[in-house]
Amino acid sequence: MKQKVSWMLVVLLAVGLLGWAQVGTPLVLDKVSSLADIALTVFGDTAYAPAIMRATNSKALVDNTFARISRLDEILPAGSKLWIPEETWAKAFLAVWDPNRVEDLFGGGKLVVGSWWTTGGEAEGLEALFATYRSRYPDVLIVNATVAGGAGFIFKAIVKPRIIAGDPPDTFQLHAGLEVEGYSPETYLRPLDDLYTIFGWDKVFPADLLDLMRYEGHYWGVPVNIHRSNVLWYNKEIFAQYGLTPPTNWDEFFAICEKLKNTGIVPIIIGNAGGWEVAHLFEDILASVLSPDEYRGLWTGETPWTHPGVTKALEILKRIMDYANVDYSAHTWDTALDYFVANKGAMHIMGDWAWGWFMAKQIDYKVGWAPVPGTKGIFVALSDTFTFPKRAANPINVIGWLEVCGSKEGQIAFNMRKGSIPARTDITPAEKAQFNPYLQSCMDDWARDAIVPSVIHGAAAPESWVVDFKDTINLFLVTKDVKGAQEALVAAAKTALGK
Ligand code: GAL
Repeated sequence: MKQKVSWMLVVLLAVGLLGWAQVGTPLVLDKVSSLADIALTVFGDTAYAPAIMRATNSKALVDNTFARISRLDEILPAGSKLWIPEETWAKAFLAVWDPNRVEDLFGGGKLVVGSWWTTGGEAEGLEALFATYRSRYPDVLIVNATVAGGAGFIFKAIVKPRIIAGDPPDTFQLHAGLEVEGYSPETYLRPLDDLYTIFGWDKVFPADLLDLMRYEGHYWGVPVNIHRSNVLWYNKEIFAQYGLTPPTNWDEFFAICEKLKNTGIVPIIIGNAGGWEVAHLFEDILASVLSPDEYRGLWTGETPWTHPGVTKALEILKRIMDYANVDYSAHTWDTALDYFVANKGAMHIMGDWAWGWFMAKQIDYKVGWAPVPGTKGIFVALSDTFTFPKRAANPINVIGWLEVCGSKEGQIAFNMRKGSIPARTDITPAEKAQFNPYLQSCMDDWARDAIVPSVIHGAAAPESWVVDFKDTINLFLVTKDVKGAQEALVAAAKTALGK
């Protein structure tokens, strides 16, 4: 902000810092002024006038001591109270605002947020982001446009036609990585490079994640978290009762399964009603039998799908299914956890949104965790981001949403409930200490493990390949034909990579 600030403004700046949740400061005019005058005084540039008008009108909707401004060239009397937005937001406003859209100068309106976060932990995390947003933008009505269904396969099928029809949500959940290809981003999404620079996101996210986020040379989403796909969750009470320790390899895992086989306890809980959960398990098994480079190479063409590790992974999966609950196709990843809650299921292999679920159900006290057997030192990673559709009906409201998603405050509030960890690299030791032991251990692993991308959760491959991969594994559950499944995986890779 620029010099030439009147004493009145200085006083109010102090009040602003002490007493307001929204980032910005109130300003009471000590003389008759135009918005252009104020923009020039505060930001050194008259171009900021629309940003001040919008920010003030937003405030006026929730606090009638603020001026209501109806025209950009309005002359405001002395004593008018304005809201001066934070400079980053004001810059973002100017980058986003289309001067043909006069309606965007009046504040309020909706923010339609599309996601598939409906289960325990997911819903709480999302609500924490909403609460952060509402504290900054109380004039905006959030519309929680969820479509239930883990990993978003149902959501994606519903949101795509809406986007094509020109009626997208204002922002929606997208996995970091090649998943974005399925949205034809150049046509339907706003590239976020300018907002990355304005908000400094290109400096606060890890370089690998930034690389993953860049598609066709642009950023298309703002990450809120890092999730881990390869976690084995175990029931501590059952493990204590039977004198078990968490398995570090598949032999130990199957020994536990054998021990529990005739006890009335399901050794390994599975829910596959979403059609992706066993394929998720399979990606973790692949990571367990291949080196990190070999696993990564599956998705780039460097590791052939004829590799004996793929055969081994299919054999392991086939064997695991013998120890699963027989009703696995009637359960989703979360409803299958009823076995766990009732102490009728011993282990579950799932991403750490399951930890969010355990926390939400308040049964985290009886949950132990370990890397999926054979994956110690390997972190199968994914990240959730939020987008900015070109045809968003409420574009100005999206600015603050993305700001919250990328902010420390938003990421801490969200991830503590979601079971994931902040994507930002500037979390201090004191902030880390606010997280519970699982999440702290996850932060440690994220910092030191070999990171490999999840396929089922959009990081490793484009959507068409993900679907082929998933369908192959689902068919395999019926046929148990290792050779046939491997051939289908080879063919899917060939289709995707053209070789
Ligand atoms: C993942 C998503 C997670 C979690 C999970 C289950 O794809 O990244 O945030 O919600 O699906 O729905």
